[in-house]
Amino acid sequence: MAKYVVTSAWPYVNHVPHLGTLIGSVLSADIYARYLRLRGRQVVFVSGSDEHGTPIELEARKKGVHPRELTDQVHEFDVKMWREYRISFDNYSRTESPVHKEFVMEFMKRLEENGYIFSQEEVLPYCERDKIFLPDRFVEGTCPYCGYEKARGDQCDECGRLLHPTELKNPRCALCGSKPVYKSTRHWFIDLRRVQDRLLKWLESHGELQDSVKKYSINWVAQGLKPRSVTRDLSWGVPAPFKGAEGKTIYVWFDALLGYVSATKELFIMRRGDPEEWKSWWWDSGTRTVYFIGKDNIPFHAIILPALFLASHDPYVLPWRISATEYLMYEGQQFSKSRRIGVWIDEALEIAPADYWRWALARMRPEARDTNFTWKEFYRIVNTELNDDIGNFVNRVLSLVRSRMSGVAPEPEDLGEHQGFVERVRRAAWAVAEDLEAIRIKRATEGILEIAREGNAHLNRTQPWKLLSQDREEGVRALSAALYAVKTLAHLLAPFTPDAADRLWSMLGLAGSVHEAVWDEWLDRPLPGGARIVRVEPLFQKLPDDFLERVDEIVEDARRRAREKRPPLLRD
Ligand code: MF3
Ligand code: ZN
Repeated sequence: MAKYVVTSAWPYVNHVPHLGTLIGSVLSADIYARYLRLRGRQVVFVSGSDEHGTPIELEARKKGVHPRELTDQVHEFDVKMWREYRISFDNYSRTESPVHKEFVMEFMKRLEENGYIFSQEEVLPYCERDKIFLPDRFVEGTCPYCGYEKARGDQCDECGRLLHPTELKNPRCALCGSKPVYKSTRHWFIDLRRVQDRLLKWLESHGELQDSVKKYSINWVAQGLKPRSVTRDLSWGVPAPFKGAEGKTIYVWFDALLGYVSATKELFIMRRGDPEEWKSWWWDSGTRTVYFIGKDNIPFHAIILPALFLASHDPYVLPWRISATEYLMYEGQQFSKSRRIGVWIDEALEIAPADYWRWALARMRPEARDTNFTWKEFYRIVNTELNDDIGNFVNRVLSLVRSRMSGVAPEPEDLGEHQGFVERVRRAAWAVAEDLEAIRIKRATEGILEIAREGNAHLNRTQPWKLLSQDREEGVRALSAALYAVKTLAHLLAPFTPDAADRLWSMLGLAGSVHEAVWDEWLDRPLPGGARIVRVEPLFQKLPDDFLERVDEIVEDARRRAREKRPPLLRD
């Protein structure tokens, strides 16, 4: 059976992630990883903190601290957040991890041995005020392709193109705003031309790539890959291991991308003791690697990473799937830290529990186009979907079993005419599984809601509370069928609302955890007869009626509380 490495893009640790980052990569990956485990597949789920590069250095300079001080605080904070959001990483590493740094240096040396690395003088912007070269985000200017005025030296956020810092029009130093001069400095380049043909063939023939990823990448590679510099004149980062490159570091992307592999290596070193076991994942053609990223990361994952793998001459598996999301907007605007637009993931938890956010964000996942987070929609999702559709159905059924059957689930038997309902639920459940298999996360949530709504309709139609007095056997059959739907919901909710699903599991009187109940063995089975429903409590709570009127105040309050819990460097 295939093995899976599931990854989510490594968040930069210059700030707390916002809701868009959560659904764009980390949470989507978690839902999928949880699904795979529930199907009994072998999974390694890794990610980590992206600590190097100019985004971090800029922020650290702004705060007047060494980058490591900032990344220590934010990394620790993010780890805590992932725990609270129930993100089931097998290893959440960081690019400052010694295993990672050594891995990157070895990998780069290997590329050099294979003849892919050459060095050359390059003319780059230099700030005479700050006395430094201005790579990547240290320089800003106008994008030569789309005219966006705040393009950065490595990429334009508007059109997504990767840039060279000398391409920017009207360049400015991002630290002091002054106009840079141009100076020559030696850098090390990877010659991507030599993998071009193999890369193109893979892009064209690999059937699992999303259309958006495929078109974009083929178009780019077909235009011809240029050598790309892999070193920077920065001291913060992984030391460049090339002769003559002392004092320089590896460009953050060539460093972070390899983290997927190094974090797997670190996992086996930490947990199971065999330092070579990572190879049986990454170097095995039976492994499927699945990357969850935002759309701005496409070129790095569909081109640069596979190019690195090919150039290593080691038998790395190329990406099996790349699930790239569009952007989540906040009330019609882009999330912006500087303009304080949006909600950050710690603030969100001051407003509602993790399960609610997980469900709501999965419902709003920007799969095909940018989607818009609104409080109105959040309110509707929590109160109508989680509470009315799912929560009420579960509660109606369990309360009936409790009050009319002393809490003892009936023995499974011939369900008569209710077999049809059970069959519909069963089919819908497997359709949800199929959607998750194909990473159609939003559609999977629709299937779950459909089951809950069908369940409510079944209760309204059969009225087991009446039947139980009029025709007890028929009432028991109707209720048994409903119980099957409730149990099915516990399974299907597990990847989305892991806490609620587990609570439901124990309300159903089932032993162990719903997260260990493999669907292939469990999904078709009715609730075991004799299971005892000992306690019934609401699965979810409604948001207060006046939530929408008071939302500004509620958000302000949440901000304040969240801020108090942040480490000092994150309190702005
Ligand atoms: N830190 C990058 C970003 O936020 C993503 C890095 S993904 C990795 O855009 F693969 F390089 F880790
Ligand atoms: Zn400057």
